[in-house]
Amino acid sequence: MKCILITGGAGFIGSNFAHYVAELHPEIRIVILDKLTYAGNFRNLVDILGKHVELVVGDICDVPLVNKLVHQSDAIIHFAAESHNDNSLVNPWSFMQTNIVGTYTLIQAATKYNKRFHHVSTDEVYGDLPLDMDNEKFTPDSQYRPSSPYSASKASSDMLVRAWIRSFGLQATISNCSNNYGPYQHIEKFIPRQITNILSGRRPKLYGSGNNVRDWIHVNDHSAAIWDILTRGRIGETYLVGADGEMSNKAVLEMILKLMKQPQNAYDIVKDRPGHDLRYAIDASKIRDELGWQPLYTDFQSGLQETINWYMDHQDWWQMDKNKVEMTYARNNQ
Ligand code: NAD
Ligand code: TYD
Repeated sequence: MKCILITGGAGFIGSNFAHYVAELHPEIRIVILDKLTYAGNFRNLVDILGKHVELVVGDICDVPLVNKLVHQSDAIIHFAAESHNDNSLVNPWSFMQTNIVGTYTLIQAATKYNKRFHHVSTDEVYGDLPLDMDNEKFTPDSQYRPSSPYSASKASSDMLVRAWIRSFGLQATISNCSNNYGPYQHIEKFIPRQITNILSGRRPKLYGSGNNVRDWIHVNDHSAAIWDILTRGRIGETYLVGADGEMSNKAVLEMILKLMKQPQNAYDIVKDRPGHDLRYAIDASKIRDELGWQPLYTDFQSGLQETINWYMDHQDWWQMDKNKVEMTYARNNQ
């Protein structure tokens, strides 16, 4: 591969992936297509932009632009999405447009120019599991059962990719990953919201009982998994990515409070999310067995401490968005 196109590369996971590839393969040219919505940040890329890394500000629904960029690339790694469940419950339109029509636009172009395509998706397409921690996990054969407009739009995009593989021979793979954490994550999301609440003198906010379980993976482990699938994965296959990181939201919040030297009860319980998925858990044996991938961040507490340190050291990165994000949550009693 001489040139890859990364969509959504100015967002959280896409920018971490761009850094991962730029460091590992400085010979590869990276073109990033990103609309720079509220979630995209030019500053996520400043240290790698240059001769080998280019940012094109544009929309994945823009057919002529997408055709031109796909034509020039050897492979497309598709991250661009509206990604926040809470936003999708208030205003679903942009989720349908970007996540479904945008993916359609990209796979049409990838089919037309016969390009390798990797679709980055989420475990949320499978809905949720019962809270019992010893219970089943998601596998590539789990039934699609999305609960929110966000997860329904991602499920739709997965279905489009699968149909294009079968009907048009699209050279594609799909990955469905669990909840990511790490640097550059937007402060609307759970972990960075609580860290920056504490850093800005606000109280952390826990939805409902706090018993809901998420399966946390460090974003660098997700980047490595995507690279392995892109370079060694079997065309047409779906790989589930997760690091056995199940924890309740309450336990994660209590760990953040402890690491930031706050009292264990220094948080507010706020209105629960409608339709709130109970538990996600990934069985990643397929990518482990087939591609030999394994997570390097196996100690969640030290990964979390590193992440806290990053938000402490990069206050100028998040501070200007903080009031706006919290005002939006406050309007929703969250
Ligand atoms: P993010 O919201 O941080 O970033 C999304 C990026 O896409 C932003 O830079 C934004 O500007 C860009 N974008 C949005 N609409 C666009 C459009 N129409 N055209 C071009 N660019 C557009 O999201 P993220 O958390 O980095 O997630 C990236 C991908 O990974 C998504 O597809 C998401 O579904 C998937 N995913 C996320 C997680 C997670 O825990 N965050 C887990 C599994 C899968
Ligand atoms: P989030 O980061 O939005 O990811 P997702 O909805 O994709 O899992 O939320 C993670 C979990 O944290 C989810 O169960 C909702 C909960 N949550 C809170 O308890 N408080 C908050 O302030 C936020 C943003 C989320």
